[in-house]
Amino acid sequence: MGKNKSFGENFEELDDRPAARSTAPSLADLWNRRIARRGFLAGMGKAALLATASPAILSLAACDETPKAAPDDIFGFEPVPHGIDGDHHVPADHLSDILLRWGDPVVKDAPDFDIRNQTAAAQLAQFGYNNDFIGFVPLPFGSNASDRGLLCVHHEYTNDDLMHPGYPADNPASFYTQEIVDIAMAAHGGSIVEVARGEDGKWQVVRDSEYNRRITPLATEMTISGPAAGHPRLQTGEDPTGRRVMGTFNNCAGGITPWGTWLMSEENFNFYFLGENADETEAENHSRMGVPGSRSYPWGHFHKRFNLAAEPREPNRYGWVVEVDPLDPASMPVKRTALGRFKHEGCENALTKDGRLVVYMGDDQAFEYLYKFVTAGKVSAKREENASLLDEGTLYVARFEEDGSGRWLPLTFGENGLDEANGFTSQADLMIETRRAADLLGATPLDRPEDVEPNDLTGKVYVALTNSKERTETDAVNPRPANLWGQIVEIEPQGGDHASTAFAWNLIVKCGDPAFPSIGAEWHPDTGSDGWFACPDNLAVDAKGRLWVATDQGSGWHAASGTADGLYALATAGGKRGTARQIFRAPVGAEVCGPCFTPDGTALFIAVQHPAADGAKNYKGFERASTFDDPATRWPDFEPDMPPRPSVVVITAKNGGPVGG
Ligand code: FEO
Ligand code: CA
Ligand code: CA
Repeated sequence: MGKNKSFGENFEELDDRPAARSTAPSLADLWNRRIARRGFLAGMGKAALLATASPAILSLAACDETPKAAPDDIFGFEPVPHGIDGDHHVPADHLSDILLRWGDPVVKDAPDFDIRNQTAAAQLAQFGYNNDFIGFVPLPFGSNASDRGLLCVHHEYTNDDLMHPGYPADNPASFYTQEIVDIAMAAHGGSIVEVARGEDGKWQVVRDSEYNRRITPLATEMTISGPAAGHPRLQTGEDPTGRRVMGTFNNCAGGITPWGTWLMSEENFNFYFLGENADETEAENHSRMGVPGSRSYPWGHFHKRFNLAAEPREPNRYGWVVEVDPLDPASMPVKRTALGRFKHEGCENALTKDGRLVVYMGDDQAFEYLYKFVTAGKVSAKREENASLLDEGTLYVARFEEDGSGRWLPLTFGENGLDEANGFTSQADLMIETRRAADLLGATPLDRPEDVEPNDLTGKVYVALTNSKERTETDAVNPRPANLWGQIVEIEPQGGDHASTAFAWNLIVKCGDPAFPSIGAEWHPDTGSDGWFACPDNLAVDAKGRLWVATDQGSGWHAASGTADGLYALATAGGKRGTARQIFRAPVGAEVCGPCFTPDGTALFIAVQHPAADGAKNYKGFERASTFDDPATRWPDFEPDMPPRPSVVVITAKNGGPVGG
């Protein structure tokens, strides 16, 4: 952790850097196809005018010619203007309430939050830090209830410097004790919290709910299933079976399955490992995943499994997707190794035409890939029959062609060079080293794939590519060098079937300020000067099929946009396609995560992550790093003794109708 830098700022910077890889990506063939495509366009009459245009412009033009029935008032709310200050903002015709704050009691008998006397035991029972993904499981299960349900919330990481009085910014290493590390571990993972809407229309936590539960890397034991379960590369001194692991951490965007389980992604797990790697056979694997992190948390000084000198195979037990059953508080979570090991971002899912489940997933680092997993079996209406569904199936990685087509390439042992000749001896090896397998297949390196969201009403899939500051060579899906702003990809599975291995794609928007031609942003002109955004991250689709985009600009917000992070609605169809409008603006230093609607769309849950932390130095009038005693904002409590607290906000419309009109 660098001096005067929050851990969050480090995350943002380090995500931008590509990982070391054995196979350098070659873009020569993509360039050749791009040139061929230009020749094809030149013969298309009207399209000749667009011969140098990107697929995004072409798709906008196509939509203008054949407008569908999209009303002009697709956004039924007044836009929230750009800007930055210490508070959050919603339109005047909407309400916002703080539903859950870091430290709020979650499990029965949890102690009240005592900021100056925090303990690991208390934190294990309280809402964790840096809320990210939010899932909503209606209660009773199987209903479409929109007044009662379980919120499943990730706690991605901790900003230790903003959590503890007396944290020494100039010498953090001196601060850590077993208890401080255990508090941090207890603040990671996830929370299951029952929430309900009262007769006054206000959402509240159900304090005594039997479902309320914390999932942590400190005290939640898990099993490992699928192709890599029990493999020697997952065996450690603490777990010679390779089938049991303590907890999960750095969980980012996730998903809820049709049978009501919660999929927790494991993203930047490398930042939790330190020390000298004691197993040379894992050196290349660890290097490809960035293990150890260049500025890791100090957990390894107090828990030896995070020290590579003691447990060099422990990192192989992270980077997976964890399935949790929120409806059974006694259930043990399961790491599903069939879904591959990488820096997982998002597990939103859809059904194939024949009833199998498809899970879409990004690998969030510069020049990494987009994946989907297709189950071998069909989803059963009896939820217990889906207990092992995610253990068998095919993992695919995406290749985007310059002509707007694409293919899903299977990561199957023994096929296409994924065999002994390339150092893979089993499907387990492929799953442990998913990135290297994807390199060999010629997958397309992307501008940091974050959340991936299918729209069940149209069958299309949206991918947030958040930014890639270090890109120099461009291609059609990553069209800008030094990309500070990101873009959103629309994927259309062939035949409207998520099982298909072929797809068409286009860029629905290229983000950034359209007022500056040098940025190369592309929006529908109705977006206006306060509707555009930069760095798309978490996505949601509401009951009407509208796409909602949360942004995370990190510490570079001032260069990417000059406005705070927010949540924006984006029109994806009809004559307004490519138009955006802001509905929520975050307080300074925060990113917006987890947008999640109730089934009827009348409540929108948002996770405000790391308020005061990111880029406070560029916040006019503050211009310094936030600390516990001197934060850029004390959102949401605004009490002199309380530091900023990551919190879940619930937004409702004043008229009681759907959020956003
Ligand atoms: Fe945790 Fe990729 O954002
Ligand atoms: Ca994210
Ligand atoms: Ca993020």
